[in-house]
Amino acid sequence: MRDATPQTIHLSDYTPFGFDVTSVDLTFDLAPRATRVRSKITFAPRAGAADTRFFLHGENLKLIGASIDGTPVTPQVTPEGLTCDVPDRPFVWEAEVEIDPQGNTALEGLYMSNGMYCTQCEAEGFRKITYYPDRPDVMSVFTVRINGPHPVLLSNGNPVTRTQGSAEWHDPWPKPAYLFALVAGELVNHPGRFTTKSGRDVELNLWVRPGDEGKCAFGMQALKDSMTWDEQVYGREYDLDVFNIVAVDDFNMGAMENKGLNIFNSSAVLASPETSTDTNFERIEAIIAHEYFHNWTGNRITCRDWFQLCLKEGLTVYRDSQFTSDMRSAPVKRIGDVIDLRARQFPEDQGPLAHPVRPESFQEINNFYTATVYEKGAEVIGMLRTLVGPEAYSKALDLYFERHDGQACTIEDWLRVFEDTTGRDLAQFKRWYSQAGTPHVKVTEHWDDAGTYTLTFAQSTPPSAASPDPQPLVIPIAVGLLSPNGDEVRATQVLEVTQARQTFTFEGLASRPVPSLLRGFSAPIVLERDVPPGQTAFLLAHDTDPVTRWEAGRTLARDSLLAMIRDGVRPDADYLDGLRRLVADDTLDPAYRALMLGLPSQSDLAARLSEAGTTPDPDAIYAASEAMRDAQAEHLSDLLAGLYADHQVDGPYAPDAHQAGKRSLAGAALSLLTRTDGGTQAMAQFAAADNMTQQLSALANLIRAGKGKTALDAFETQWHADRLVMDKWFGLQVIEAKPEDAVATAARLTEHPDFNWKNPNRFRSVLGALTQHHAGFHAADGSGYSLLADWLIKLDPVNPQTTARMCSAFQTWRRYDADRQDGIRAELDRILATPELSRDTTEMLSRIRG
Ligand code: PHE
Ligand code: ZN
Repeated sequence: MRDATPQTIHLSDYTPFGFDVTSVDLTFDLAPRATRVRSKITFAPRAGAADTRFFLHGENLKLIGASIDGTPVTPQVTPEGLTCDVPDRPFVWEAEVEIDPQGNTALEGLYMSNGMYCTQCEAEGFRKITYYPDRPDVMSVFTVRINGPHPVLLSNGNPVTRTQGSAEWHDPWPKPAYLFALVAGELVNHPGRFTTKSGRDVELNLWVRPGDEGKCAFGMQALKDSMTWDEQVYGREYDLDVFNIVAVDDFNMGAMENKGLNIFNSSAVLASPETSTDTNFERIEAIIAHEYFHNWTGNRITCRDWFQLCLKEGLTVYRDSQFTSDMRSAPVKRIGDVIDLRARQFPEDQGPLAHPVRPESFQEINNFYTATVYEKGAEVIGMLRTLVGPEAYSKALDLYFERHDGQACTIEDWLRVFEDTTGRDLAQFKRWYSQAGTPHVKVTEHWDDAGTYTLTFAQSTPPSAASPDPQPLVIPIAVGLLSPNGDEVRATQVLEVTQARQTFTFEGLASRPVPSLLRGFSAPIVLERDVPPGQTAFLLAHDTDPVTRWEAGRTLARDSLLAMIRDGVRPDADYLDGLRRLVADDTLDPAYRALMLGLPSQSDLAARLSEAGTTPDPDAIYAASEAMRDAQAEHLSDLLAGLYADHQVDGPYAPDAHQAGKRSLAGAALSLLTRTDGGTQAMAQFAAADNMTQQLSALANLIRAGKGKTALDAFETQWHADRLVMDKWFGLQVIEAKPEDAVATAARLTEHPDFNWKNPNRFRSVLGALTQHHAGFHAADGSGYSLLADWLIKLDPVNPQTTARMCSAFQTWRRYDADRQDGIRAELDRILATPELSRDTTEMLSRIRG
């Protein structure tokens, strides 16, 4: 039960806790419906503390008893926690509580998944395990005893003792409670070893359910690669004798960086060639790296409060993207990140959920694990590195680790290490952390025949509820200049735009150059420019920066699609010609060429239309995208069979970038071929495939061609026992459905006996997939909206976090026509009217509804 009026928490209200926690001892007696947790915690009042109240968070706990220095006490207990009179000197607090892991469907705190116990404590889950100051700035050393009959009993840190029915763990590194973890169950281990650069021998374990042993090797290798990379690039070594990773099937997010005991959604760690696609492998490698990198950026140095979430998440995403760039292709990774940013972060930043990278208030912190905090947070760090340069960045990071190890920090601390190493004033740069919204930068140019070329940038950020009066930002814009014959006459240089309007001059040019702007996507902005005819096609042919070259192709595709939608014209021949030349260019990385064949997402097109004052019609956008695909297929028809054949991989499957690139180009060719060959090639690939990448791409093509029935049945027969593969089977049918069938397909799949809706992965595979189907979700009759709303209402009492996250599907609602807006508003109101709706979902919907 919660308060009728949810509380808003403000950054400006921060006050430190009035006590130090010198040690924490926990004992767990595991039982599915009645686990007992005994805690023994040493508190010491802090001299001069402003807030001397002894308040411990606690939710859904049954208090059995409490004592101070051995004398029983009777605290005042509320649904949020307890208070108690305490002595004005160090004391030992002991409490015993009972909790119900089996009944915990929210997957926060201690819960059960397939008979195994596991925990999720970030952000505020520890308070569902015992009474504690559950805030990240309270750091302490934990000792944990677990009593239970399970063969595997794990917690953070190093193992102390292990006997039949009991295990003890000690974590020497002070940590906040959100990094606590416990796992107990019948698990099997895929072991490994790693020796750190200073010679520490580390035992690595990857714990999985029996039957999943064959899906561990890749994750283990990714862990070792991450450990090596962090030593080499950031000088960061691992600091315990063991590192455990556990895979669980029921998990709200991707994975969690608990100290020495990372817990992963099984979809984010288990992989094998037969069951995982190249995309899965790359994502798994990145998530393993991400969680491992948190050991320093998150765990050793943590956040003072949850407003500072980007301190660990932005930095760790930035670090994992550097890792992927080093392990694979840097331009391909960067382009993928740009696509992802536009798909997830831009809509957030441009809609009712817009918030700064460091928000200033929230009701439910779980709603702020967003693309803005994570991905824009990483972009901000990338810009900082661009501005100060790689050497200064390294120095600043060394200082950060040296100065703040063992502390709970703020963005101010983070920026100060950069100021102190470079002498630069970052006051204006800091606005990236405090101001919401995607900046628009309008570029104009001027050429005079004396050889002087100027570029003028005008920046403006649309006001939002979160930031009603946006100020100019520091925007690094990487620019190169090309001569009309395609030579680079000015190498990449970073222009620092700091004013609302600012001009940069280039002298001594022999002829009017063509600018290549925002190279490497050097800032998360929308660039606007009236490009002279032919110039974008020129950049597509000649740009020496792979990211802006790709962007040129994307722009041509987008503009052509927009014209097709608005004016009913045919696809742009210049785009198709340029694309053809690129795709046929064997000197280019196949992965890059595959990216070139991609189109802007339909939701992106809707955003563009709406920004330009046209109400988007999802069916028209779908039709134009299909027409463009057909045009690509036709224009490249003589190349496709060759592209397909030339990019088949000989020899055994390997999930590396080289093979994956070939498969992605072959896959792109196959999807165009299928438009003209009636599915013959896809059928053959489906029959012959010995890896999931090819099997799934064949299946997708067959469904799209309306010939998926037999293959879908065969796939189900083959894979019905594999949860992760079946998630793909569910999702693909929705994603690849015709717009008019998408809702019915999703609805039908929710009736499937294997639609276990309490499992977040499975729920997302159907309902999440529907929200990804632009024309399907926005079906004119509103059926997509009401199907999603029905399921959100059903899921909310079971799992508020996953429900609230999926509400963001509605965030773009004001783009659409009056009927669709009415339809969505009615569903938002219907959900909001549900009795006992969670704080998570209430906050999300209220913000979206406006
Ligand atoms: N901190 C996790 C990560 O980014 C994400 C997470 C947040 C997981 C909250 C679970 C709950 O790696
Ligand atoms: Zn993270």
